[in-house]
Amino acid sequence: MTGKPSTIELTTPLYYVNAEPHLGHTYTTVIVDTLARFHRSMGREVFFLTGTDEHGDKIARAAEAAGCEPREYADRVSDIFRSTWDECSISYDHFVRTTDSYHVDFVREVLTRVNDAGDIYFDSYGGNYCTGCERFYTDRELVDGKCPDHELEPEWIEEQNYFFKLSAYQQRLLDHLHDNPDFIRPEGYRNEVLSLLGEPLEDLCISRPTSRLDWGIPLPFDDDYVTYVWFDALLNYRAALEFARGDKADKFWQNANHFIAKDILKPHAVFWPAMLMAAGLPLYDRLNVHGYWNMGESKMSKSLGNVIRPLEMKERFGLDSFRYFLLREMSFGSDSSFTEDAFVRRFNGDLSNGLGNLVSRVLSMQNKYFDGLLQAPADEDTSAEDTAADATVHAAFEKAEQRVPELLEGLSFHLALEEAWHALAACDKYIVDTAPFKLYKDESKHGRVGEILLLLCEALLHAARLLAPFMPDSSAAISRLLNTEPVEMAEPPPAWGTAFEPGHRVGKPEPLFPRIEIDKQ
Ligand code: MSP
Repeated sequence: MTGKPSTIELTTPLYYVNAEPHLGHTYTTVIVDTLARFHRSMGREVFFLTGTDEHGDKIARAAEAAGCEPREYADRVSDIFRSTWDECSISYDHFVRTTDSYHVDFVREVLTRVNDAGDIYFDSYGGNYCTGCERFYTDRELVDGKCPDHELEPEWIEEQNYFFKLSAYQQRLLDHLHDNPDFIRPEGYRNEVLSLLGEPLEDLCISRPTSRLDWGIPLPFDDDYVTYVWFDALLNYRAALEFARGDKADKFWQNANHFIAKDILKPHAVFWPAMLMAAGLPLYDRLNVHGYWNMGESKMSKSLGNVIRPLEMKERFGLDSFRYFLLREMSFGSDSSFTEDAFVRRFNGDLSNGLGNLVSRVLSMQNKYFDGLLQAPADEDTSAEDTAADATVHAAFEKAEQRVPELLEGLSFHLALEEAWHALAACDKYIVDTAPFKLYKDESKHGRVGEILLLLCEALLHAARLLAPFMPDSSAAISRLLNTEPVEMAEPPPAWGTAFEPGHRVGKPEPLFPRIEIDKQ
């Protein structure tokens, strides 16, 4: 994020209520949660916004298929999203629904403003409409006559409607992208938008006649029409901020960071900034775009029966291991694929054998040799060889402590975790190299064994700090096992050798990530 702002807005898309939360929604929500925790720990004031998108054709049709009124249907599914995020300990600050009255009022106010400014006109129009995407497609955007995302032929819709003069903003959008190279990241998506803007933009149809659809926000200047769902939903990012943060809204907005997948790039990168310009509002700071999660080779879809549900993952494997997998496996911006094999491999390799095993090995030795009591550093001088060995662990954590925040700022979640795991690997190597379990057999070496274990317990506390934004429960569990208060990433770690009070006793080991036996699944 640009500079080191003290206030920041972080948003997920508002999820449509025609489906229940799955792995894809969870990914965006988890990365935003990780960043929210990270920024808070850096002392920044965060406004983490998520919610549900409830109007439009798609929802009206889903409600009809479910045999209920759209409002009742939206209430039900919106509650499922909110309670899922609650059960997943997602630390959102505000949950917005596009049916909330403050949002509806804001949409109508902006429409009035844009209409008064002369940027809305009435016309008849025919176009290819994809209900899945809730937008018209130009011929050029269709692939073999189909929507490339839903692989379905669009419907031809022809009617009289209101239009927003999107085309009038083409040059200003291009200028903004040129003047602000970080406006859209990663760069590949910025280039995609630049190429979209290389062709003439068509004006945007922003209404639906109530004769065809009445589940929407009525236009303030014509009751026979409701607002097009994107001209409604996008405004939430500003409406909810103003509602929840009042006078401070502008401060947060200067650092508004939206997070989306590539499926909704055009509405966020083209419609939204143009809408803000037309409404006389400043633009958001950044659009951060990630790729798709596929299920093995195929798309995730209800009809293929391969949808991964976050609460099922939590139940089966624990929340943090799911978070870890999502954050470790996808490189932000590129596509990734989820397979249960890959999940089990990461779980058993990185979590069970890696982090979990390290924690339990260190605590077992501390308990076995010293009844859990940390030993004061030995009086006699440490040999050069021992000092060198200790320095490898110090150096690995110092590097990780410097790199992980930088990588998080750059959205390289997978590299940040890789870096943290290098530090854990340095601990494993240290145990092998110093072999405290062998040294302990020689009574004269007990002082050194105490030192080695003290250093390792301190290293675990450093690890808990590094992992806090990514895996909050595991971080808290490590602190608890070490018998200390929970720690935050940005707290400056105490100097080595001073992390624990004299006479500190650590807890007994507990398995953090019991190995998954493949045949037991
Ligand atoms: N309602 C609109 C967004 C309006 S924002 C003002 C919408 N909703 S959605 O329910 O379809 O959510 C799309 C978003 O969900 C994606 O942009 C992404 O954040 C997340 N994902 C849903 N499926 C996904 C994958 N398979 N992979 C990665 N992310 C996905 O679009």
